[in-house]
Amino acid sequence: MRVGIIGATGLVGRTTLKILEERGFPVSELILFASQRSAGEKILFKGEEVEVMTISDNWDLLADVFFCSVDDDVAQELLKDYKGEAWVIDKSKVFRMDPRVPLVVPEVNGDVLKTTDSRIVANPNCTTIPFVMALAAIRKMARPQRTVVTALQSASGAGKAAIEELRLQREYLTVDQEMPADAREVFGHTLAANLIPQIGSFSEAGESSEERKLREESRKILGDPEFSVHATCVRVPVEVGHSLSVTCVFEEAVDLKAIGKSLASFPSIKLLPDNLLITPVEAAGTDEVYVARLRNDPADERMIHFWLCADNLRKGAALNAVQIAESLI
Ligand SMILES: NC(=O)c1ccc[n+]([C@@H]2O[C@H](COP(=O)([O-])OP(=O)(O)OC[C@H]3O[C@@H](n4cnc5c(N)ncnc54)[C@H](OP(=O)(O)O)[C@@H]3O)[C@@H](O)[C@H]2O)c1
Repeated sequence: MRVGIIGATGLVGRTTLKILEERGFPVSELILFASQRSAGEKILFKGEEVEVMTISDNWDLLADVFFCSVDDDVAQELLKDYKGEAWVIDKSKVFRMDPRVPLVVPEVNGDVLKTTDSRIVANPNCTTIPFVMALAAIRKMARPQRTVVTALQSASGAGKAAIEELRLQREYLTVDQEMPADAREVFGHTLAANLIPQIGSFSEAGESSEERKLREESRKILGDPEFSVHATCVRVPVEVGHSLSVTCVFEEAVDLKAIGKSLASFPSIKLLPDNLLITPVEAAGTDEVYVARLRNDPADERMIHFWLCADNLRKGAALNAVQIAESLI
């Protein structure tokens, strides 16, 4: 397969390269695109240097499958009139809610790839992916009436400039120096030794765009437009690894053991025993979606709570996209 990475120098692009190599994806030729800033840079793939190029006319003829990991505006401009034959697995939000484009987590709704006419496949948001996997496993046992999530999202979810800013902010704190405005450009606030209860812009109703994405994308992937979920998304000063605290409310009392069994047998989910915790730092660099602290509510037997962690750059982005490509071929 001729493989192209658009946004090869970014966090997700570089993680995609690592995962293609780790999984022995059949790459016959590799083409790497990024912005003018990175043109000419060399990136190692399987021990060989590959030069980064800017996107040319007829770029789509240069590979059979593209992993596109650029910002929304760049993806929109590049793909808005896409009519090529090559598959494009896009990580931006541009096509996620487009009814013609499949939005895929292979373990949950990989079947939609068998019937789609679209050559673009959308990769969900990095918080949606682990969340929807756990919910798909739970829904095999019982459908929650209402689900409430608090997502604690790492800095890398906002790209390489965000990680750099977090590290810079830490340096200012270490030397006890006042934080200049240009050290708060990405987050708008101090994230180091702090947290920010806003990701994206707020609607009039007070919901953030990140929170809306989690709800709408989950509904599309689960094929349940009535799925009732409310999220609060918080940026935390962790470099890699998103964590979610989830509460599900059912119509009747639920069998926690049966739910645990369903989670444990779901592909790519690892259910941890009661005495084991998982932190984002431990989840980072791994492929699993971890579920821990699964428990009933002491005051209401219709409620369960659990803790979820996953690497946002791997299963939350690059790994999920590579799995989609593996399904396609
Ligand atoms: N980070 C996550 O956890 C995550 C998870 C799911 C989805 N996503 C989505 O994936 C996309 C990429 O995220 P990221 O975290 O990898 O961002 P990033 O680290 O900021 O990387 C952005 C990439 O886009 C390239 N780029 C920028 N302008 C371009 C242009 N005009 N033409 C070609 N390439 C251009 C950059 O190249 P230069 O290096 O040359 O600037 C870089 O390679 C975003 O849409 C993001 O929302 C991210």
